[in-house]
Amino acid sequence: MTAAKRIVLSSDHAAIDLRQAVAKHVADLGWEVVDIGPKTPESTHYPIHGKAAAEAVASGDCQLGIILCGTGQGIMMAANKVPGIRCGVCSDAFSARMIRQHNDANMLSIGARVVGEGQALDIVAAFLGAEFEGGRHATRVGMIEASTD
Ligand code: RB5
Repeated sequence: MTAAKRIVLSSDHAAIDLRQAVAKHVADLGWEVVDIGPKTPESTHYPIHGKAAAEAVASGDCQLGIILCGTGQGIMMAANKVPGIRCGVCSDAFSARMIRQHNDANMLSIGARVVGEGQALDIVAAFLGAEFEGGRHATRVGMIEASTD
């Protein structure tokens, strides 16, 4: 039997309910979910949670990650500071599919104050259902990885 693929989930306080819905959806799609919280709704700081999720992916512990905050933007910025992470914010399924196919994104960010639950679950399914196409896209992703800030 093949081991389930692992995916890390995290959010800030603005996205706890949506994160739980995403966790169920992802588990239903056959992934082993590593939900690193937070579990309670007190106000918190998205950079902490974006970095923690990104480190779980960068270390190889999880193959992919999904992170959420109010807009999806702040937590995405924090995740992208971790070397090896390519995270995009998506509000539509087309973009979610394309960041896997063309950008080899290993993390997806969603804004819980931007999209509703149904849309978010479609975005997640598109992201998880797509594969990196390689070829010319691998050249471009390699250029991203070779650049420093
Ligand atoms: C929290 O109020 C909010 O700023 C945060 O969830 C996120 O939208 C930041 O990018």
